[in-house]
Amino acid sequence: MRFNTVLYKLKGFYKFGRTVPKLRGKVFVNRTGVIEVGRGLSIVGHPWAVQITSTKGANLTIGDHVYINAGVGIAANKEITIGDHVKIGPRTSIFDSNYHRMDSADKGELSKKITIGNNVWIGADCTILPGVTIGDNSVIAAKSTVNKNVPSNVLAGGSPAKVIRELEIEEGWVRE
Ligand SMILES: CC(C)(COP(=O)(O)OP(=O)(O)OC[C@H]1O[C@@H](n2cnc3c(N)ncnc32)[C@H](O)[C@@H]1OP(=O)(O)O)[C@@H](O)C(=O)NCCC(=O)NCCS
Repeated sequence: MRFNTVLYKLKGFYKFGRTVPKLRGKVFVNRTGVIEVGRGLSIVGHPWAVQITSTKGANLTIGDHVYINAGVGIAANKEITIGDHVKIGPRTSIFDSNYHRMDSADKGELSKKITIGNNVWIGADCTILPGVTIGDNSVIAAKSTVNKNVPSNVLAGGSPAKVIRELEIEEGWVRE
């Protein structure tokens, strides 16, 4: 993964350092924290806009050749790391903070780091919750809620997501 680029907003245009990302439709970027992206980022912002947020003090890192589909929301309040060749299906949400307390006894950390490994495919309408790690090459089935770590090389799905089966992944194989 190479981080030779920093995403920034300038008069309504989004630039990604020296790389030329493929951006279609509407992509809203709220950046008071750090956003770093690798090469070959592709974002589809139609028919639903994509929203990418990194708040003050947060780090959002997106690897090489990542594909972000329509309606996706990614919000880093602490740290989100997305590996290389990751595909994120339409209307999926990835946020590393709960934002709100459950009750007055709830004193825990609101924000916990999310790590998404290389070559992960996250299906449509999924929610990836704070503190979760998804291992390399794994697939998250459509409509899943991921609230616990998912190991590498598995299909996981459901709400809450559970491992459904192992995947056969050859060394170096990258999902189309
Ligand atoms: C994950 C997926 C590819 C699995 O396809 P599949 O060929 O049915 O997989 P399998 O046959 O190995 O299914 C294994 C089990 O997982 C279950 N399963 C499949 N998708 C599931 C889902 N979204 N949620 C919960 N369980 C699911 C199947 O019912 C099956 O269970 P069973 O063994 O009890 O019958 C597909 O279901 C899916 O979710 N695709 C996402 C597509 C998408 O979102 N595309 C957006 C563009 S990026």
